[in-house]
Amino acid sequence: MILKLLIEKKRDRGELSADEIRALVSAYVAGEFSDAQMSAFAMAVCCRGMTPAETAVLTDAMRTSGDCFDWSGLPRPVADKHSTGGVGDKLSFIIQPIAAAAGMSVPSLSGRGLGLTGGTIDKLESIPGFRAEVPAGELRRRMQEPPYLCICSQTPEICPADRKLYALRDVTGTVASIPLITASILSKKLAEGAGVLVFDVKCGRGAFMRTRADADALAASLVDGARRLGRKAAATVTPMDVPLGRAVGNSLEIEEALEVLSGRGPQDVRGLSLHFAAQMVELSGLAPSPEAARAKCEELLDGGDALRAFRAAVAAQGGDWDAFEREKRAGVRTLEVAWDGPEARVADVDAEKIARAALMLGAGRSAPGEKLDLKAGIVLRKKPGETVRPGETAAELHATRADRLTPEAAALVRSAFSA
Ligand code: URA
Repeated sequence: MILKLLIEKKRDRGELSADEIRALVSAYVAGEFSDAQMSAFAMAVCCRGMTPAETAVLTDAMRTSGDCFDWSGLPRPVADKHSTGGVGDKLSFIIQPIAAAAGMSVPSLSGRGLGLTGGTIDKLESIPGFRAEVPAGELRRRMQEPPYLCICSQTPEICPADRKLYALRDVTGTVASIPLITASILSKKLAEGAGVLVFDVKCGRGAFMRTRADADALAASLVDGARRLGRKAAATVTPMDVPLGRAVGNSLEIEEALEVLSGRGPQDVRGLSLHFAAQMVELSGLAPSPEAARAKCEELLDGGDALRAFRAAVAAQGGDWDAFEREKRAGVRTLEVAWDGPEARVADVDAEKIARAALMLGAGRSAPGEKLDLKAGIVLRKKPGETVRPGETAAELHATRADRLTPEAAALVRSAFSA
């Protein structure tokens, strides 16, 4: 097969066969198809698209470019949830423990964040002692014993094709393609081996997908790809114009997740968590109807089962909850952003501005490998629909470095609010 002809075929709107796509991916991973050729191919896909069948084969070729987990033989359904990422998105820490408490095994391989705020692993690393790297043998054992939940970091052996291709797409203007995004997200989730997957596709100014049309297309493509590759899947597009909950920042988000797991905390976080957990329960066949699935999840959340599962899973990875409680405010400086207008009802809090301010405080990374201030972030004292009076605190900035609590960061947070 002459691989360079496949670039021309896609450029000319041709449909590639499964063999052609697999040959291209394996040649790229082996270094026999150059970065220059792959960027031309990625651009052709951006411009011409891929059929759902092509997208599924690309996903599978990327999935099998590295290690894949096989959970056959486990007595419990294996399930996971994926979010395309949003500001203040701590839903995993609530959904996955509910799912585990409901009867699933949940092996969740997650990443660190780049830009805006931290990723799932960064957030968990705000718990002293937490160990994100879990060897494959230990993960297997953990899926067979209570609490049947392990949130750990993705190893370099998972989807090397995606790592190489994503870095290339990042610098060649080829990220914005639904088939390429689908193959990238789905290959990693499928390598994890879960039979049931639910997707939270965030949409809005604080999300990767800015328009409803793009978010709908990605949601449909993820579900289609997952089903073609033999999984049960569902996706929901959820709004990301306003931060989720009140806390943005790694350690602050763990605190808020604990609040929700304890039956308190913001209603938006609780509501979405129950929605996705119930979808997992239903798809896994652990409840006879959507209503029964929802009722079961509410019971597990309100009865403290999910909280116990989360605490036990983190402790099994070395996380020291007493130290977290003791140290979470140690060394933290705060700056309050006061409301400087007349009494009003808050109409909007711009998630993108809040995320940019959190990045200035040290809660996010502007380059890979950058060290985060895990205690940095923003607490929203007011959210849309709430009344704010002159001089009242609208938001609180947190950082361990006083020099990061700048007037610019405070002004950016103030400008995120409108009445
Ligand atoms: N996240 C991914 O993992 N891949 C993409 O292509 C886009 C977002």
